[in-house]
Amino acid sequence: NEIYLNGLGGVLPRFPMGFAELEERAQAALPPSVWSYVAGGAGDERTQRANATAFERWGLVPRMFVGAAERDLSVELFGMRLPAPVFMAPIGVIGLCAQDGHGDLATARAAARTGVPMVASTLTVDPMEQVAAEFGDTPGLFQLYTPTDRELAASLVHRAEKAGYRGIVVTLDTWITGWRPRDLATANFPQLRGHCLADYTSDPVFRARLARTPEEDPQSAVLLWTQIFGNPLTWDDLPWLRSLTDLPLIVKGICHPEDVRRAKDGGVDGIYCSNHGGRQANGGLPALDALPGVVEAADGLPVLFDSGVRSGADIVKAVALGASAVGIGRPYAYGLALGGTDGIVHVLRSLLAEADLIMAVDGYPTLADLTPESLRHLG
Ligand code: FNR
Repeated sequence: NEIYLNGLGGVLPRFPMGFAELEERAQAALPPSVWSYVAGGAGDERTQRANATAFERWGLVPRMFVGAAERDLSVELFGMRLPAPVFMAPIGVIGLCAQDGHGDLATARAAARTGVPMVASTLTVDPMEQVAAEFGDTPGLFQLYTPTDRELAASLVHRAEKAGYRGIVVTLDTWITGWRPRDLATANFPQLRGHCLADYTSDPVFRARLARTPEEDPQSAVLLWTQIFGNPLTWDDLPWLRSLTDLPLIVKGICHPEDVRRAKDGGVDGIYCSNHGGRQANGGLPALDALPGVVEAADGLPVLFDSGVRSGADIVKAVALGASAVGIGRPYAYGLALGGTDGIVHVLRSLLAEADLIMAVDGYPTLADLTPESLRHLG
């Protein structure tokens, strides 16, 4: 309505209204190496593309005479009340998408303005405490890339607790970086990553490991980080991870039902079904196709989902397949590239408005009305 009413006065939307144009304009706005990093994926990006096209194979069946004049998309998750089952997935080095470099702060401000929570990556340009200070009344989660140095891992988690984060998301699928031809071609990955060590360089444990402060010797900080980043965790590490915090613990990158059961046995509070947007391993199952099996094995435990969500319709379909909340990835990074906080707010509000309108038009007024029976698989 806001957009149509503005149109009456001849004012057109400032930002793109669909994903294809959003992507095209973000590419034009970003330096080529940053574009490669954000838009690229593993191998020939087959899995990345399949993540998005998997949504096309499900169709929502409309219901009539429902009178869905009022919709309720709000949801309770890990003790947080959210306006919709939607959050911003963690995007490391997102600072590079912002003109002033402070993409983490811009994202946190978009969370404050929309009520859509941000999962703040470990790989930030701004320390996690400064990011959290921008959240306003919107809750936020902290995503941990678990360093091999356990004391440092504990320090990061305890700082997140102190800064007011409401849950810890441990990403399991990226203890090592996958085969990413676009990043390999630009060969600038370490430089990219060198931009996002704020959580590390502000950490007392990390600083204690360095002979000279990161301010005096940035190179040695990058070197130390490359040595300790990425812990090839095993199930034996789960009790230790669990013991680090009383906050909700969510494990990201889970696609196999057996892994869901083991994680559940290990005392996690939530499962995050994702294949990292196809950035880590090519040739894999589209994440959406893994979702029903994950939801079944989770057996009531909350299931977060991301990878390939590009529209409000995609959000509705993932919820119908059992996702408790749906993560937006690249689309909000593109919004940031085009217009900072305003660009992200536009992307999020558009996705939420489309999801809401689909629930209105198709006669599913509440999230509880969306079940696998609302969908048909197109084969
Ligand atoms: C990511 N993702 C990610 N995940 C994570 O746990 N920690 C991180 O630091 C990052 N960094 C990151 C950078 C960039 C540029 C992208 C695009 C993605 C993965 C992210 O959380 C999410 O799983 C995917 O973005 C979902 O796929 P789509 O929807 O972006 O295709």
